[in-house]
Amino acid sequence: MSVVAVIGGQWGDEGKGRVVDLLAQQAQMVIRYSGGNNAGHTVINDRGTFKLHLVPAGIFNPETINIIGTGVVVDPAALLEEMTMLAEADVTFDNLYISDRAHVIMPYHREQDRIQEALRGDGRLGTTGRGVGPAYSDKMERIGIRVGDLLHSETLLQCFARALDVKHSLLQSYGGTIEPLPALHQQFIDYGQQLRSHIRPTHPLVQQALRRGDRILLEGAQASLLDVDWGTYPYVTSSAPGAAGACQGAGIGPREVSHVLGVFKAYTTRVGGGPFPTELTDETGDLLRERGHEYGTTTGRPRRCGWFDAVAARYVCELNSCDYIVWTKLDILDELPTLRICTGYQINGAKIDYMPSSVAELSQVQPIYEELPGWQTSTDNARTFDDLPPNAKRYLERLEELLGVPTALISVGPSREASIERVPIAALFA
Ligand code: GDP
Ligand code: IMO
Ligand code: MG
Repeated sequence: MSVVAVIGGQWGDEGKGRVVDLLAQQAQMVIRYSGGNNAGHTVINDRGTFKLHLVPAGIFNPETINIIGTGVVVDPAALLEEMTMLAEADVTFDNLYISDRAHVIMPYHREQDRIQEALRGDGRLGTTGRGVGPAYSDKMERIGIRVGDLLHSETLLQCFARALDVKHSLLQSYGGTIEPLPALHQQFIDYGQQLRSHIRPTHPLVQQALRRGDRILLEGAQASLLDVDWGTYPYVTSSAPGAAGACQGAGIGPREVSHVLGVFKAYTTRVGGGPFPTELTDETGDLLRERGHEYGTTTGRPRRCGWFDAVAARYVCELNSCDYIVWTKLDILDELPTLRICTGYQINGAKIDYMPSSVAELSQVQPIYEELPGWQTSTDNARTFDDLPPNAKRYLERLEELLGVPTALISVGPSREASIERVPIAALFA
């Protein structure tokens, strides 16, 4: 067994892309298992700086097989654009496969996403507007179109016949439009032809890799607090970004997974609407945003910033059976004189140590904080745990204690090198 799942532990943008890029150098296969191009994974390596939305972060290693898994929703135009961007940096795609079972995001999904957000008014979710939610809805509604359908003209026509009546009447009632069938059909047959060499049943590939004992990485998108079941519903995405979703989306049984790595920023951010108990709307929040360049990778929106929430993080570790934590962006805290960690919530005069299920309640909780001294020293050049200032070590050790999960890796800068291995990467695959 050498399957490692890398999952987001907060509300996204924890640095999953940079972690997968680092680990992928030692992996034979990387599978993106859920979400769509709502994700934005920044990778900085010897090839340059890249913002990946659909292509797995193992693509920079020509020997590593990269799979866009069955659980992903694929916008072919966005994927082709991303491949063009990567090709400019001489990235090649002989090692990229797309599951023929993955669902397709259609232009009418983006239109529906946009219109529904507008209709929500003040209650808008702050979606990324990429059509991801409507594409997953249609998959569940059984009027979705799958990547494999793009390879067969007649099949695609039948799929459109099943979907378009419903979509027409829905969008018409919203005052939206759908392209005429012939144009839509032709456009998606063209996409299918452009992607043909990459589309295939991925089950045999994955099973062969498992049988060989290959090192396989499962690349998460979004994060557990955005999970449609366990996140801050309805302010969530429409997939299951955690370890269970990794198995489902990649087509790997849970017993095959050797380790689950939860990726957490050393503080918290959130982009889009929804409750965020430790949010800072003061100058400390601004400092985190500016030092951390906390602007969305996909939409450019400013991210909301706040203290580390150990209540939420413990919940996520429990939900996902996290074996290890990967801490990112520790360096962003370097200037702060004091740090706070949320260890409980106060609501209606009572103290609770769990995340309420209802957003109405979660919006009302007051965080209970524990204060720790900052280190006010640069951690940029730390490459071992002992290189870190004593107060930075103390901060991380306290977080480990609160979560009951040990640390595997710590990052102190956006590039590959700025990483500290508490556990050797090879051991994570063992
Ligand atoms: P993802 O969606 O989880 O892959 O994360 P994003 O790429 O959306 O956001 C993470 C941002 O933090 C990116 O701009 C990364 O380059 C940056 N980053 C990741 N790790 C570190 C780190 O340890 N220190 C600093 N300063 N930046 C980091
Ligand atoms: P990565 O993989 C941060 C958020 C959106 C919105 C909610 C629903 O880069 O961590 P959607 O478009 O999915 O219907 O929007 O989910 N969201 C993310 N936030 N990082 C992401 O991905 C996100 N993907 C979706 O901002 O609040
Ligand atoms: Mg991101």
